[in-house]
Amino acid sequence: MSRSARLAPTVAPSLRTLTVALSLTLTLGLTACSGTGGVHATSGSAGVGDPYFPKSGNGGYDVTHYDLTPAYTPDTSDTSETRDSATAPTLTASATVTARATTPLSTFDLDFQGMKVNSLTVDGKKASWTRSGQELKVRPSAALRKGRTFRTTVHYSGTPETITDPDGSDEGWRPTADGALALGEPTGSMAWFPGNDHPSDKATYDITITVPKGLQAFSNGELRSETTTGTARATTYSWHTPQPMATYLATVAIGHYDITRTTTRNGLPVYVAVDPQEAAASRKVLARLPEIMEWEEYNFGPYPFSSTGAIVDRGGDAGYALETQNRPFFPGAPDTATLVHELAHQWYGDSVTPKTWRDMWLNEGFATYAEWLWAEDHDGDTAQQTFDALYRGTYFDDKADDDAVWAFPPATPTSAAHISDSPVYERGAMVLHKIRRTVGDARFYDIIQGWAATHRHGNADTADFTAYVEKMAPGKDFTEIWKDWLYGHGKPARP
Ligand code: TRP
Ligand code: ZN
Repeated sequence: MSRSARLAPTVAPSLRTLTVALSLTLTLGLTACSGTGGVHATSGSAGVGDPYFPKSGNGGYDVTHYDLTPAYTPDTSDTSETRDSATAPTLTASATVTARATTPLSTFDLDFQGMKVNSLTVDGKKASWTRSGQELKVRPSAALRKGRTFRTTVHYSGTPETITDPDGSDEGWRPTADGALALGEPTGSMAWFPGNDHPSDKATYDITITVPKGLQAFSNGELRSETTTGTARATTYSWHTPQPMATYLATVAIGHYDITRTTTRNGLPVYVAVDPQEAAASRKVLARLPEIMEWEEYNFGPYPFSSTGAIVDRGGDAGYALETQNRPFFPGAPDTATLVHELAHQWYGDSVTPKTWRDMWLNEGFATYAEWLWAEDHDGDTAQQTFDALYRGTYFDDKADDDAVWAFPPATPTSAAHISDSPVYERGAMVLHKIRRTVGDARFYDIIQGWAATHRHGNADTADFTAYVEKMAPGKDFTEIWKDWLYGHGKPARP
C-alpha cells in the first residue's frame, strides 16, 4: 500500500524548521471595558491555544452555523469565451457566521487569509474591522453580552489563496484545469471563508455555490437544490450539512464531473463526483463503496452522517486524499485501502474530532488501523503481521521510512511540520493493535465502537482516549502501552 497516495508530499528535512517553540502565544483576551450598556467586555483572543497552530481558531465565541454563498468564475483566459472583466479566477462571496458569545465581547476575531473584505455587519448593523495576517478583528457597534447569539455577515471578493502548510502540502483554494478545489486540513478553510478555523469548534453548514452554467459544484452534506437561471447563465447548487462539521472538513469541488446519486441498502444517499478523466480507473473501486460502508458500520458502529460518497479529481489536483465530511476527496482514482482509510475517518476524525492538532493520531492511527483490519478480513495480511513488519523494520521499501516510525511518540509530534508523519499513522495504529492484544477482540471492538458513540459529533483528546480504554477494560494494565508506545521516545523495547 502506498502511503504517498494519501499523505502530504514529503519535504526535505531542512524545510521542517517550524518548532513547538513558536507555538506559545497569548490565549487570553485583553481586558477592555467597553462602557456600552454596562457590559464589561473583553477582546476575544486571536487563537484557542492550539500547541501546533497557535493562531488557529479564536476565543470568546462558539459558532453554531455557517451560511456560505461562494460564486466562482474560473480563469477562462485559455478559452474562446470573452469577458469584460479580468480573466483571473475570482470568488465573490458572503459568509454569515452564527455564533454564541461565551464571554462578553467588545471585539472578536475570525480567521481569514487573503481576499478583500467589502463589508461587514453584526446582526445587520455595520461593524468596523481590521486585518492582520490571518486575523480579521471585528468590533461590533455595541459589545455583545455573554450567551448572546449573534450573526456576522462578511461580503468579500478576490482571488482566494492557496496556503502551504508547515509540512509542505498545499491546501486552501486550488484552481484546477476545469474549476477549483477547496481543501482545508489543517488551516485551509480560512482561504475561502472567514470563521473559527479550528477543529474544536464544529458547526452545521449551508454552502450555496454559483458557477458558470455548464460547470458543476460539489460540497458536503446533501444537495437541496440546483437551479439554473435562464438569463444569468449561471447554476446555483445548495448543499446542506445538518451534522456538526469542523472547518478543515468543509470542501467545494467545481468542474466537470460524472455525477451519480444512489442509495445504500439502508437508504443512505451516496453522492459521487468523478472527473471524467478518472472515471474508468475509478469505477471498480467506487463500486465497492457501499460494501466498505457496511463493513465499517459493522466494525465501528452506526454511520454518523446523513449521506456518503466521494469526490475524485485529477491526479495533479492535490498531493493527498482528504476525509472531507460525507464524501472524501481523492486526487485520482483511489485504491481500496485509501477508500477504506478515508471512509473510516468519517467515524474517527469527522464525527469524533481531535480537540487540538496534537491529537492527530486519534484520526490517522484509527484510519490506518482500519486499513489493517480490512486487509485482515479480506485475505490480506493480519494486523499482527503488519505490526510485526513495522516492528522488524521491513514494512516500507527503504530503511529511512522504516526508521521514521520511531522518530517521535504518536501523542506528541515534534512540531506542526510532522503531524502527518508515520509515527502519527503507523505507530498510532500500532498503539491500537497493542490495546487489542491486551483486551482481546470482543472488548476491543466494544472500545472502538463505544469511543465513536461516546464522542459522536464531538471532540476528544488523547487523555480522554486513555481514560476511556481504562474504564472499558477494568483490571487490565495499560501502563507500558501508554508510557512506551503512546508517549515514549524511541522504539519500545518489546513488540
Ligand atoms: N488527513 C489526510 C489523510 O487522510 C492526509 C492529510 C491531508 C493531512 N492534508 C493533511 C495530514 C494536512 C496532516 C495535515 O490521511
Ligand atoms: Zn488519514
